Amino acid sequence: MTTELSPATELPPTPDYDAWPIEADIETADVTPRLVTVRWSDGRVSRYHSIWLRENAGDETTVNPATRERILDLSRLPGWPEIAAAEIDDAGALCLTFTPEDIRLRFHPGWLRAHDYDNAEDPEAPLVPVTLWNGGPDAALDSLDASGLLDSEKGSAAEEAILAPALESVLGKGLVRLRNLPTQSGSLETIARRIGPIRPTNFGLLFDVKAKPNPDSNAYTSIALPPHTDLPTREYHPGLQMLHCLENSVEGGEAVMLDGFAVAEALRERDPEAFDTLTRVHWCYANTAKTTDYVWYSPMIRLDDRGALLEVRIADFLRGPLQAPFEDVEQAYAALMTLQQMLREPGFAIRFTYAPGDLVIFDNRRLLHARDAFEGTSGHRWLQGCYMERDEIRSRYRMVQRAGRVMRVGAR
Ligand SMILES: [Fe+2]
Repeated sequence: MTTELSPATELPPTPDYDAWPIEADIETADVTPRLVTVRWSDGRVSRYHSIWLRENAGDETTVNPATRERILDLSRLPGWPEIAAAEIDDAGALCLTFTPEDIRLRFHPGWLRAHDYDNAEDPEAPLVPVTLWNGGPDAALDSLDASGLLDSEKGSAAEEAILAPALESVLGKGLVRLRNLPTQSGSLETIARRIGPIRPTNFGLLFDVKAKPNPDSNAYTSIALPPHTDLPTREYHPGLQMLHCLENSVEGGEAVMLDGFAVAEALRERDPEAFDTLTRVHWCYANTAKTTDYVWYSPMIRLDDRGALLEVRIADFLRGPLQAPFEDVEQAYAALMTLQQMLREPGFAIRFTYAPGDLVIFDNRRLLHARDAFEGTSGHRWLQGCYMERDEIRSRYRMVQRAGRVMRVGAR
């Protein structure tokens, strides 16, 4: 079978919606049946397996052009895809003939270079390097003027100029404060949707943090809240939280933020045994209200399968009865108290007072937030909040990066 090729003066489609600037040209392509060795104009050498190339072609036997999702099922090919011939065409694309299908497919050099798994240092590296931070009296959170956000067109350069640095702070440091936003009740929903969909919970799409009668959470009183992550009682607790200040005229109620990853790393350094215990023993997290009953068991500090910090799950007022193996119990409580003492160290905390129009966006599986008690009769303190997943920030940030690549390709 031979498929129709796009004209050799044009670069072929890629299996995605992205734009891939040409960083270097393909100079030569040496093939064996199952391997292509590409030599680039800047001297880099990249090897690609024939089967990898076959399934990552951008043509319509491989990818549905309407969705850019794969339609090829490798297991239905008449045999292992091998390469019979290779050439670099006039457009600079790599053109390969595969057997036993007898199909010629073209590959975009920018895309190939960007997906060079032979030379990739860490393909799973975070989009923005994770920067741990300490607090202390001189520490301040990244703050940005977002007054033009809601007037900007969606996807416009003006919107990206506000969102790009904000997303970068959230991805790298775990938080950002946007300032000078509207103070209308409900405007948080419109603001949040500029980034992505909101995750609703039993507290609503948006929740109001203010002292109220018959509270179903300590958050809805004027008492101090210790450093915590929200909803650790869920199997998958929300990756992001947004708190939007509509009113703040009370005395007290100062907000506190801590980098839970910095605290965890400090614990690993100071007391490796306590750190290990908190990554191992499952605690019970429970939010058993009058009409709902959420319970989940998890370690307090979780690492991913590469040993990097994945999340902290800390909320003393939402811990249920520990149900750990008998011999772990005292060790678990000792580690817990060591951690709790560290959480009170002023050197970890950033303190600030919310002003109306402030929106703090933070990684709820990394940052801990707390507040001082406030005098409920001295004025009003009203925050509206919502949750979102980390995926939404990452997706939005990738779109910002893609827009930058599209501009670079367009400028060529
Ligand atoms: Fe909270």
